[in-house]
Amino acid sequence: MTTFWSLYVTVLSLGTIFALTWLLLSTRKGQRNEQTDETVGHSFDGIEEYDNPLPKWWFMLFVGTIIFALGYLALYPGLGNWKGLLPGYNYLDNEKQTAFANGQTGWTGVHEWEKEMAKSDAKFGPIFAKFASMPIEEVAKDPQALKMGGRLFASNCSVCHGSDAKGAYGFPNLTDADWRWGGEPEVIKTSIMGGRHAVMPAWAEVIGEQGVADVAAFVVTNLDGRKLPEDAKADPVAGQKLFAANCVACHGPQGKGTPAMGAPDLTHPGAFIYGSSFAQLQQTIRYGRQGQMPAQEQMQGNDKVHLLAAYVYSLSHGEKAPAEDAQ
Ligand code: HEC
Ligand code: HEC
Repeated sequence: MTTFWSLYVTVLSLGTIFALTWLLLSTRKGQRNEQTDETVGHSFDGIEEYDNPLPKWWFMLFVGTIIFALGYLALYPGLGNWKGLLPGYNYLDNEKQTAFANGQTGWTGVHEWEKEMAKSDAKFGPIFAKFASMPIEEVAKDPQALKMGGRLFASNCSVCHGSDAKGAYGFPNLTDADWRWGGEPEVIKTSIMGGRHAVMPAWAEVIGEQGVADVAAFVVTNLDGRKLPEDAKADPVAGQKLFAANCVACHGPQGKGTPAMGAPDLTHPGAFIYGSSFAQLQQTIRYGRQGQMPAQEQMQGNDKVHLLAAYVYSLSHGEKAPAEDAQ
């Protein structure tokens, strides 16, 4: 932290301790030593206070906490950039790795976590490495690998994709046959490793409000083979022209999507993540969408992502994989 904040923290911490010490000593001064029946004079709802000195044990306890605080702040890092007198906390100077390797780190929550991680890496690293050297389809058949992958999924992915991986509004279902970026094992791994950022442009300004309604009508009736709501004021024929002019570049001439850009298949409303009603489609087309899948390479590393990819792959290719149109 900068010198300013270091000083700020130090002055505030020590200042508070000294102020409390002063308060303690100054209220004690001038107090009588013997017990008394006199009250200090004020009364709250009939409750009065004897004018007795602070009990000695209480006073000593307070002094004890002050000494403890000062001792603690001298020994451990706590006062701004002060590293503490105890050895092992000097990792604060970028020497974290070396200090850690030499086992010199003092107790902190972060150190304990790092030690746990190192321990589990040592224990599970070889197992992860073994699976990482196998093709994803093979790993996806191994019960132990799937169990490990399932745990990784539960703790890292289920917040968005759901604990059953079936997705939610804005988050794709990973158990069906519909893929936005592709369902091949290596492509799934690429999606997880590097993350994905889909960009569907906003069309309101380009084709106008009526254009949005028309092209949405075309998607509903022609691509999806559904019916428009009775009161819809939209012309699918005009929409078809707009689609050919504006949408095929990404969604393809038949609207079947382009996995390389994450442009989804529009002929399969069950797989829409932003809703498939006429109103929701217009919303999507009017304002655009920007789905983001966060990259996992930094947090998980290659070997864990390999297991995750195998787990995800197994969800749509395993024995219990749901039927094609599960959604
Ligand atoms: C913060 C929310 C979030 C988390 C956490 C998250 N994802 Fe995603 N993921 C998304 C979104 C949003 C998309 C869709 C991106 C898009 O619009 O194309 C996605 C897309 C994907 C895809 C591509 C699906 C396709 O149809 O091509 C895969 C595979 C995937 N996620 C796997 C995972 C795995 C495995 C994890 C855990 C390591 C994970 N995700 C964690 C939000 C998340
Ligand atoms: C620059 C490429 C591009 C163009 C042009 C484009 N889209 Fe998209 N579209 C995408 C991408 C990428 C997504 C996925 C967005 C996401 O996952 O967040 C998408 C998503 C959608 C969705 C949402 C599907 C869902 O899962 O809910 C609809 C509907 C859609 N587009 C319709 C259209 C229509 C209609 C047009 C023409 C007016 C159009 N798009 C033009 C790239 C494009």
